[in-house]
Amino acid sequence: MTFIIAIDGPAAAGKGTLSRRIAEDYGFHHLDTGLTYRATAKALLDADLPLDDELLAEEMAREVELAGLDRSVLSVHSVGEAASKIAVMPLVRQALVEAQRAFSKREPGTVLDGRDIGTVVCPDAPVKLYVTASPDVRARRRFDEIVASGIPADYLEILADIIKRDERDMGRADSPLRPADDAHLLDTSEMSIEAAFLAAKSIIDAALKP
Ligand code: DC
Repeated sequence: MTFIIAIDGPAAAGKGTLSRRIAEDYGFHHLDTGLTYRATAKALLDADLPLDDELLAEEMAREVELAGLDRSVLSVHSVGEAASKIAVMPLVRQALVEAQRAFSKREPGTVLDGRDIGTVVCPDAPVKLYVTASPDVRARRRFDEIVASGIPADYLEILADIIKRDERDMGRADSPLRPADDAHLLDTSEMSIEAAFLAAKSIIDAALKP
């Protein structure tokens, strides 16, 4: 039996960095499920296909190769926007959830991060974390990240974007973003990545104890 760690939370809460760190520490496989939605959206954009045709989007979702997900190519803003549009489609979600569930079974353990891992993709995961931070703090972190990479950024625009993304992720009918009933809440507003990692580690170690 494999060991699954499910990590959910809103955009820019730090769950990606935290998930990679946990996977590295425990020697587990990691999947950023947001990239599967992004890859589906990018395939449509690249082929000049519409973003509102569910059957077409499902077809693209079924062709996504988990091994070929490239974060640097998929992280651009326009792809994220397109991803949040196709992520409301039940057929797209069904196709991607199947692939994510197959991934979650890899030995010796897996870390999946996204919006619906603890609630829908892996409801039986022995460890569920819900990583969050105030919209303000998330916008500030994203702003600092962009500016550090040498690109000018507008803080208020980023904040408005994060609030809009939250509304879309939490307000959709199929698999809205919410903490699973048995998730541990990790508010990183006042926490460094290292402190968040140590908090997560003590939860995971307790669950791993025989
Ligand atoms: O985490 P991200 O920004 O890479 O996610 C891109 C979009 O995909 C985002 O709008 C939410 C959606 N998503 C989802 O609906 N379910 C997941 N498990 C992961 C991401």
